[in-house]
Parts: sequence; structure tokens; C-alpha cells
Amino acid sequence: MTAINPVTDLSKEGDVAVITLNSPPVNALSANVRNGLYDAFKEAIADSAVKAIVLICDGRTFIAGADISEFGGAMQGASLFDVQNMMEGSPKPVVAAIHGTALGGGLEVALCAHYRVAVPSARCGLPEVNLGLLPGAGGTQRLPRITGAEKALEMMTSGSHVPAKECLAMGLVDELAPEGKLKETAVAFARKIVAEKKPLVKVRDNDSKLQAAKGHPEIFANFRKANARKFRGFKAPEANIKCVEAAVNQPFEEGLKTERKLFGEVMSSPESAAQRYYFFAERQANKIPDVPDSTATIPVNSVGIIGAGTMGGGIAMNFANAGIPVTIVEVKQDALDRGLKVVRGNYERSAKNGRFTMDEVEKRMALIKGSLDMNDLKDVDMVIEAVFERMDIKKDIFTKLDAICKPGAILATNTSGLNIDEIASVTKRPEYVIGLHFFSPANVMKLLEIVRADHTSKEVINTSMKLAKKIGKIATLVGVCPGFVGNRMLAQRGREAQKMVLEGAMPWDVDRVLYDFGFPMGPFAMSDLAGLDIGWVKEKSHGETIRDVLCEADRRGQKTGAGYYDYDPETRAAKPSPVTEKIIHDFVSKSGKNPRTIGDQEILERCIYPMINEGAKILEEKKAIRPSDVDVVWVNGYGWPVYRGGPMHYGDQVGLDKVLAKMKEFQATMGDAFKPSALLEKLVAEGKKFADMR
Ligand code: CAA
Repeated sequence: MTAINPVTDLSKEGDVAVITLNSPPVNALSANVRNGLYDAFKEAIADSAVKAIVLICDGRTFIAGADISEFGGAMQGASLFDVQNMMEGSPKPVVAAIHGTALGGGLEVALCAHYRVAVPSARCGLPEVNLGLLPGAGGTQRLPRITGAEKALEMMTSGSHVPAKECLAMGLVDELAPEGKLKETAVAFARKIVAEKKPLVKVRDNDSKLQAAKGHPEIFANFRKANARKFRGFKAPEANIKCVEAAVNQPFEEGLKTERKLFGEVMSSPESAAQRYYFFAERQANKIPDVPDSTATIPVNSVGIIGAGTMGGGIAMNFANAGIPVTIVEVKQDALDRGLKVVRGNYERSAKNGRFTMDEVEKRMALIKGSLDMNDLKDVDMVIEAVFERMDIKKDIFTKLDAICKPGAILATNTSGLNIDEIASVTKRPEYVIGLHFFSPANVMKLLEIVRADHTSKEVINTSMKLAKKIGKIATLVGVCPGFVGNRMLAQRGREAQKMVLEGAMPWDVDRVLYDFGFPMGPFAMSDLAGLDIGWVKEKSHGETIRDVLCEADRRGQKTGAGYYDYDPETRAAKPSPVTEKIIHDFVSKSGKNPRTIGDQEILERCIYPMINEGAKILEEKKAIRPSDVDVVWVNGYGWPVYRGGPMHYGDQVGLDKVLAKMKEFQATMGDAFKPSALLEKLVAEGKKFADMR
């Protein structure tokens, strides 16, 4: 074996050269990898004893793409095109041997091999769209030549990782190798190609699969229309679609030029900058400075949940989905039955939608046991309490759990804002008490705020972080403060939205501005969806707020057919409501205020800047580890558009000096709710951004 460079080896299996990459963690196409590939192919091609070449990777995966951390810097060494041209132009057959994932630039490299062999567990995809990009190394022109236009559109705009068996069916992979026998199979395959004098297949040369789409622009028009909602606000999906159009309508070399041009456009867009930032933000959130990865974990093989309501049931589903048995404890049989019925209904709906089989429904239900007796939790490894947000009830439950549960069991609360230190104080094991704040619906929403209380042990934190991954959640570690990170910032937006309605804006004006910003819906549409009467008590309601008046008039949101909005009884589409408008007018004139017109810019700034400011306060108080963690909370839990990175990234993009100046202006006219945080003042004074805090 010859070391070509620190990450590339060249060896020979008889007359087959094997190039092996080993660049942890994911063999991304860094300068070292590109140089290694270039030199190794050059040497193998020049060696007259070599008849065929296999490219394979060590470690967990085939090449997972360009090295994202190199983007934005100057390109060093061999370019990816140099490597690809060398492979595709090789006079000896080149076989790519794929395990793990061949993604982005990695698949684009494999597409320049003459053949591809993969193990069944491998997956291939062009996920660039998720980074606000398009495959910029010929992938947009080569993939459709294998899959046809429609499948390529789907793969490129979803970024999906397609399993090897499907790749085989569509011709993206030529042969499957048994698991663990990739190298031998690929070498044998390469020998067979030589022995049978099979052609050196260049994907670029065969456009027969594209013929079906030629002269059919409606394929693209329909695709755009069908996905308009999904693509709203993103730049990259449209650029990807244009590239597939180019593959259909232009010769290969021209298509490459179109790809290059569009790649330049998306690469320099703020949307892609935000999405790439976010890629690393999500991974960074797993890193906790004083809780290294090596910290011990506590095995969690069984879980108890207190409360079979919407939250409790949803939380239980996460564990059952991951194969972990759950016991749900309720106080009354009917509440328990209702809760389990909802869970079953959710699973059956998924099965009907083809997500899994009815057998699977039964398998998962069998992992969820109901009980009316908390003593049934004496042997579980972790309990998650998910009852009403009342401190006295929670304290009572934690006192009982502390007495019942075995030593070493983790006691978690799903509170969305109560003081966890106070809850922990009633137990003799505060180091085992932690907050696990799931978001509703808990079986769907990705975010998990893991709340570290004063005494929570590092083992319990590490266990919770790892468990979150196991049940498919994206976790951020936050500190105890009212509302934690997400709800605390949301309160800022909610307050301003309500105030603006009292000053003259209509709920749909506020919602429209936030929708256009990229949120799936604004706060008033959200209230209608959740129900305006959450936390509202009829007997105590005396028309003191607009919500009171709406609820008193039985306008309680979507479920009553009317709330802030009117709802079409058939389509359920929301329409601005003249009734609500009158209620607001009457309410405002009673208060003696003169309504004024509030511009879209003011609506946006008053909703968003106080959130950025609150995020800064959270950081100042060390309730979040880093600005990007705050962004992870907002993108995953509150529908913040990922192409705007998150509130803190957005603040950086707008310019913190501008945010600060606006907050000061608002403070002068509207009071101390807008008081700038000391951190915001400090960063601006030092000419820094949130991103500089890393
Ligand atoms: N570049 C740089 N670093 C990368 C990377 C990449 N393409 N892909 C992953 N990493 C890093 C991660 O940041 C992470 O680093 P830390 O351990 O320091 O946090 C590490 O590799 C492991 O990644 P994950 O935690 O995500 O590991 P996983 O096993 O859960 O997932 C994966 C592996 C499926 C490959 C996933 O990392 C992934 O989806 N990566 C991105 C793939 C991608 O988008 N490729 C396209 C790149 S753009 C491109 O190729 C443009 C072009 O056309 C030339």
C-alpha cells in the first residue's frame, strides 16, 4: 500500500488498483481529499500493470459531500472538476464502491466513475438544497441522465437520501454488494468489466432518459405549482429546477455552464449563508463545554410518563417509536383510555398514510402500558411528568416519585416554564431532576429544550442529550428561567402583536407580515388554531381584553368556526372578519385611544427586534450556551424560516447597530419593554456580532 497523502492510499489487488480515502469524520472533499484523489488516479492510470480502478472509503461513509467549512474561502489545490475529469476520462474502468452515504459532491464524484457498486445500507442523494445550494459539480446534469427529469427534480429539491436498493432500480447503482464485503465485490466487479470488455460508461454521454421530458415544459410548471407552498421563501429549489430544465433542453456542456452560473447565484445568497450556518448550529448544539461527550450516561431502557393528555401521549409515542417501553400513569380510567385511544388513532393514521404497517401499530402500542398507580413506576429508568402547569401539583408528584422510584432513576418534568429548581427541591435527588420540554404535537415536533437546573448532574444531562438523539429530537441545553428560551422570546412577540392591535393594526395585518417573513402562520392565526379559550375562564371574564370579548361571543378559534378570523365552513379557509374588526374598533374607542395606521416595517421590527434583544438577555444570563443554540430553538420549535438562520443570525444580518438603534427609538416612545440588553449594547460598542461570541 502506498500513501499518496495523509488521507489517501493506493494499493493493488492483482491488476485492480484500489484507492482508499480516510478523512474522518465523513470523507468530505477537502483540499487534502481532492489532491489525494487526483494524484492517486493519475498514478493508477499511469501504471501499466493496472487494468481497473476501485474508489472506496474507510470509516463510517463514502464521501458525504464538499467540505462545507471550506465554502467562502479561496479554493486550494486540485479542483473537484480536475478530479472528475481524470476519473471520467480514465482509459481504465473506474468503479465507485459506496457504503454509508454518497451525498452531494460525493455522489457527483461517484457519477464520474464508469460504474457504481453499493452495500444495501448505503444511501445516495444530492442534499445541497438543504444548504440553500445546488449540486455544483455536474450533478444537476448527470443525475437526470440516469433517473429522468421527474425523479431528479424530486431528489434534488427534497435532498432525500435514497436507499441503495432504489438506486439499483433506477440505475444509479449497478450492483449491490453483501454488507461487509464491499471491497471484494467491487474488485471482482471491476475484473468482470475488464474481462467482458464492457464499455467505459460516461453518464454525460447518454441522454436517452431525458427525451420523455423534451418539449414538455408543463412537467416543470406542474412541479413548481405542486410544491409552491413547500418552496415558499427558499431560493435554492427554483435554481435546482432550472438546472434540470437545462439538462433537458441544453447539450451537456451548456447545461454545465447554466449549473455554474446558478450555483454562483445561490452560493452568494443570504438564504444559503443562513442555511449553511444553521447546518453547523444544529450540530454545535450537541456540544456542551463542561459535559464532554465522554461523560458517563445512565441506561434508559424503560420510561414512565405522568399524564395521558396530548403532551403525555405524544411523548410516549417518541419512546415507543424507538422501541423503549413506556408506562403512562393517569388518575382516572376514562382519561387514561382517552389518552391511549388518541395514541392509537395517531398510529393508525400513519399506517393508513403508508408510513408503516398495521402490524407495526400493534408493535408500538404493545410498548405502551397504561396504569392508574404511580407505584408501577418503581423500576423505570426515567419518569417524565406531563401534567398541568401548576407548581403545587408538580411538587406533589415529584415528592411521590422521589419516594417510589428506584435510586438513580431520572425524574424529568415537561414544564414549559416553571422553576425546575423549585420542583427539584422537594426531592432528595435534585441531581437527577431535569427539564425535558417537548413541543406540541410532541410526536411530530423536532425540538427538545433540555433544561439544566442548579443541581442536575452531568451524567443526567449527557443521558438526556443522547436520549434525545435516539428518539429523533434535536436538543438544545438551556437554563432555568421563566419560559426558558423559546417561550420567553415568544412572549416578546406576543406582547407587541397584541399591543399593535390596540393601536390600530388588524390581526391579519400582523399575521401577513410574519407570514411573508417566512413563518408558517402569524400569532393570531396560531391562537385560532390552538383555541382562544386556553387558560380562559368564563366566570372570570369581563371583557377586559379583546380575547375575552371574542371568547364571550363564542368566537373561540377554528374549533368554533370563528375566532380572530372567520372560517369558511367547507374549506376551513381563514378570512379577515368584519365582526372581529368591529369588536376591536369598539374596544379601542372605549379605551379612548386613537387608532393609527401601522406600517409593515414597524410591525416586523416590533415583533422581531424585541425577540433578538431577549435572546441577548438570555445569553447574558447564560441561560443558553451560545447564540446559535437560540437559533436552533426557533427554527425547530417555532417555525422560524431556516433561510433566515434564526433570530440571532438574522440580527447579525440586519446589523446589530440597526437593531439597537431601533430598540432605543422604541424605548423612547413606548417605554422600557424595549430597553436594550447590556450584551446588545456591548457588542455594538465593540463592533461585534453574535457570531463573534463563539
Ligand atoms: N463538510 C464538512 N463537515 C461535515 C460535512 C461536510 N459536508 N458533513 C458532515 N460534516 C461534519 C459535521 O459537522 C460533524 O462534525 P462534528 O462532529 O464536529 O460536529 C461530523 O461531520 C459528523 O456529522 P453528523 O453529526 O451530521 O453525522 P451523522 O452520522 O449524523 O450524519 C451525514 C452524516 C449524513 C453525512 C450528515 O453529516 C450530512 O448530511 N452531511 C451533509 C451532507 C451534505 O449536505 N453534502 C453536500 C455538501 S455541498 C456539496 O457537495 C456542494 C457541491 O455540489 C460540490
